[in-house]
Amino acid sequence: MPHIHIKSFKTLAFPARYDDIEFAFMATNLDHNDEHLIATKAQGKDFFLLVKDVKEKKLLKSDKISRPSSTYLVKKALLAYADASGCKKLESNVNDDEQNIHLVKNSALKTIHYFAECFPTGKEVRIEVGFGSGRHLLHQAKKNPDILFIGIEIHRPSIDQMIKQINIQKLDNVMLLDYDARLFLELVPSNTVGRIYVHFPVPWDKKPHRRVISETFIKESIRVLMPDGRLELRTDSDNYYDYAFQTFNTLNYMHIEIFKNRDISVKSKYEERWRRQEKNIYDIILHNKEKSPELEDPGSFDFPAEKYDMAKLKELNGTTHRFKGGFIHFERLYKTNDDRYLFRLSMGAFERPEHLYLLIGKDELNYFPSAPIRSKGNLKAHKILRGLLHG
Ligand SMILES: C[S@@+](CC[C@H](N)C(=O)[O-])C[C@H]1O[C@@H](n2cnc3c(N)ncnc32)[C@H](O)[C@@H]1O
Repeated sequence: MPHIHIKSFKTLAFPARYDDIEFAFMATNLDHNDEHLIATKAQGKDFFLLVKDVKEKKLLKSDKISRPSSTYLVKKALLAYADASGCKKLESNVNDDEQNIHLVKNSALKTIHYFAECFPTGKEVRIEVGFGSGRHLLHQAKKNPDILFIGIEIHRPSIDQMIKQINIQKLDNVMLLDYDARLFLELVPSNTVGRIYVHFPVPWDKKPHRRVISETFIKESIRVLMPDGRLELRTDSDNYYDYAFQTFNTLNYMHIEIFKNRDISVKSKYEERWRRQEKNIYDIILHNKEKSPELEDPGSFDFPAEKYDMAKLKELNGTTHRFKGGFIHFERLYKTNDDRYLFRLSMGAFERPEHLYLLIGKDELNYFPSAPIRSKGNLKAHKILRGLLHG
């Protein structure tokens, strides 16, 4: 990840602007006063830069929680801050190269907020979870130009590779997302998806809670699939097959087909390797037969506009609050240069918590720079958070 080692840290007179980058305010960790977050806006995206001491040096880098999907924007903001504040650069992995041409031209890479706010409609949608090298996704997209494909990956180099291919092959029916597919599915409207492909998921034999296939994932898949839509799992792992078979069976869902060593029209790198090793490959295909109820409005992530008793709120720092299925942990507290406070939180369902910031002024309180994703676990946590903050 891009970073710059600087000799000593210098602040700006906030708010400040350098070229087309805005620096709105700075927040300092109340327990570690060498750690600062700098609220930055570049090309309409809000995020934090982070400054902290690492081995007697100061490190300026992007904050993991709020980092935008474009590495180019982060690099630009880091260089802008160092130049604007006159911080002496010691070493860095940041250059001021032109933005990667593929990332500039292509808007295929979307944020989770894009899908949460306005899920694409009007065309059949197909989703590939963990597309890896992207061979199957590219093959399907070329073969079906009238269908919109959403490819989801958590491995950034695979996404960058895929963006390149989308440009080279001039595909306009693929969107990509750098996010956990399990959470993404909760946001998808009901009855909209034709196929969900889960090909060769990581078996996670030692950390089964990280597996993509679970009872919740299958139930959500049935909800989002249109009648006659399909969830296709393909795996080379005997363990994963047994686990998935049992999980599908627990749901007592009748419309399931099983195949062993079925040929499909394109083979991924993984599949080629397993075939060379003469491993068995299993498919479990679920056919959806029903229309599901529409997604319920999960409610809002608002907070009431009222006066906040900061002395009381500060006591929450370091505390954890559990509820059925999830928790809220107040991880760190920062104070801004303009006398506001910023909590860093982790909250939501146990298996999929989110990290967030909460900005607190005298009579306003908001998630910053953006609200949590509208998942059931997050909404439940938000309701409990409101209760904690308002006594
Ligand atoms: C073993 S690879 C298979 C890649 C590809 N489907 C193929 O057949 O070659 C599994 C991929 O799933 C991705 N992955 C794992 N968990 C994921 C999740 N929760 N959401 C999205 N992608 C995930 C991994 O990053 C990895 O690239």
